[in-house]
Amino acid sequence: MPYVFEDYRDLVVIERVEEADGVVSIRLAAPSGERLPSWDPGAHIDLKLGNGVERQYSLCSHYQADTWRIAILREPESRGGSSYIHDNIKVGDTVTTRGPRNHFPLVDAPSYLFIAGGIGVTPLVPMLGEVIFDKAAPWTFWYGGRTRASMAFRDRLESLGAHIWPQDEKGLLPLEQILSEAAPDTVVYCCGPGPLIDAVEATCARLGRPAPHVERFSAKQVQTDGDGGDHEFTVVVNSTGAEFTVPADRSIVEVLQGNGVPLMTSCAEGVCGTCETKVISGEIVHRDSLLSEEDREEGIYMMPCVSRCKGDRLVLDL
Ligand code: FES
Repeated sequence: MPYVFEDYRDLVVIERVEEADGVVSIRLAAPSGERLPSWDPGAHIDLKLGNGVERQYSLCSHYQADTWRIAILREPESRGGSSYIHDNIKVGDTVTTRGPRNHFPLVDAPSYLFIAGGIGVTPLVPMLGEVIFDKAAPWTFWYGGRTRASMAFRDRLESLGAHIWPQDEKGLLPLEQILSEAAPDTVVYCCGPGPLIDAVEATCARLGRPAPHVERFSAKQVQTDGDGGDHEFTVVVNSTGAEFTVPADRSIVEVLQGNGVPLMTSCAEGVCGTCETKVISGEIVHRDSLLSEEDREEGIYMMPCVSRCKGDRLVLDL
């Protein structure tokens, strides 16, 4: 479901913990103390920061807890998101959030294999909790990071039986071995840096395994040459019948927002899912880093910040 505009929520920071080198977690609660809405593992929230920047962070508390927790890695190339949180957010501050929202849900499966890289561990922590304590299903968890000291939640995961794999001690995660040893019907979840996700996807494909469930923090390289989206087309707002021309060099979001059509966006890169929009008719050219192959084949939703139309007309459920 797309966001609704009233979805913003001011929350109070009630705890701040240095979880690992460069990783801080903050716990958020309602100012009134009332219980925050529940969510499913894999969900994220948007954080609207005091400097005007908006970023998405996976929830990593227990999904039935009264409060929410997120963990933030200080990015060396931070453009005002992670560095702002590390340097400015303290207990007692109020932050504006939106969501939760889940594009990375845990499906039912006979067994699970989790592959985490660095801060990509965050959505997988509550997933593992659900698999162990609610589903009681067999699982394997591999967690790679630069160094032991940089790996948030390492001790707890290790005590549960996860494989901890610091790169400076053991090298890269042995993906070929990990994925070869998993039963054919084991469902694979991966979150981490783009190269790790690319390698897991490629190894699954090479071994004839189904595609893994992945969540990316940044846009993947999308091959757009020859995908049929580089032309002008018409976009129709179904509720009003208004029609707008989308030139080859502008996105649907740019055109709609430029004409006063309210459409929520955040990353503008096809990563976060904030702009997800239902398509009533027209063929979509998907250029996001989010939807699965099955989602794309269904052709019901698109990310209009990056995706386009194959034909000359796209009718959106707006
Ligand atoms: Fe993030 Fe479109 S705004 S996917």
